[in-house]
Amino acid sequence: MAFPITRMRRLRMNETTRNMMRETSVSLNNLIMPLFSCTGNNVKNPINSMPGQYQLSIDNMVTKCKELVDLGIKSIILFGIPDHKDETGDCAADEHAIIPETIRAIKSQVPEMYIIADVCNCEYTVHGHCGTLLNGDVDNDSTIETLAKQCVAFANAGVDMVAPSDMMDGRVARIRQGLDDNGFKNLPIMAYSAKYASGFYGPFRDAAESTPKFGDRRSYQMDPANSNEAMREIELDIQEGADIVMVKPALPYLDIVRRAKDTFNIPICAYNVSGEYAMVKAAAANGWIDEKRIVSEIFTSIRRAGADMIITYHAEEAAKWGIVK
Ligand code: PBG
Repeated sequence: MAFPITRMRRLRMNETTRNMMRETSVSLNNLIMPLFSCTGNNVKNPINSMPGQYQLSIDNMVTKCKELVDLGIKSIILFGIPDHKDETGDCAADEHAIIPETIRAIKSQVPEMYIIADVCNCEYTVHGHCGTLLNGDVDNDSTIETLAKQCVAFANAGVDMVAPSDMMDGRVARIRQGLDDNGFKNLPIMAYSAKYASGFYGPFRDAAESTPKFGDRRSYQMDPANSNEAMREIELDIQEGADIVMVKPALPYLDIVRRAKDTFNIPICAYNVSGEYAMVKAAAANGWIDEKRIVSEIFTSIRRAGADMIITYHAEEAAKWGIVK
């Protein structure tokens, strides 16, 4: 039936029908807030390229978690900024390293907060690459050993979920084995499965002090041109035991999110990364866009593409503004 019998505008005429017809919703249950933990006391270092985001020492981190819980944000993903680094990133797995200490502090003072920990070596290596170097490149098989150790250390500290972001082959299986061997068979793994070698991580590397000292990450992160390869990465991670798979960045890769949703029956997370956040903040600071409206539209588009969860630096503000409930 076509015009004039059919008129698409009929159901757009008022708020009630618009609400009734809405296909996609976003709730605070879907949002995960990233936080950067550093050493020291009462530290709150602003991250220049990410207005509103800070490196927080553990005391301030605990306060921030209380505020988030009060706002209705129930989960965070933690990144660590250690005060010393080494060649392999092994220092991240010490029980007194920055992330285990942060996890214990939050769990003891804000037990209702669900803590996801990013698992990678790049914040902990002197060279800034995501693993152990051998002949100028990251060695896969020794790196996955360090990642499994890091996961067990985080699990011992009480983490609720681990999220490996390194893009080594076989790491999900190795981590699953490490967790199971240490009594953590119920601890879920959220795998950064389709993680692209992206310019959109620029501001994060300032925040986490993790820029590679030489070269780039293209020998482990994915080529932005590839979609079939992303499906293979996701399939392998599912076979290895991933409970959730992630696509990262989000907005330039919504086709990957949709394709993953249509192909696999598994929860999908999309990471709306630092560069995406910085662009919105910069345009908003210039008065060029309506930030609240844009953030709402970004969340909706990521959910519409098929993501169940969104990691977003806008989570706290979205809750404060009341644009997500
Ligand atoms: C660590 C890691 C990165 C991000 C999340 N985990 C940086 C990278 O791979 O260089 C990026 C997050 C963001 O840009 O917001 N490997």
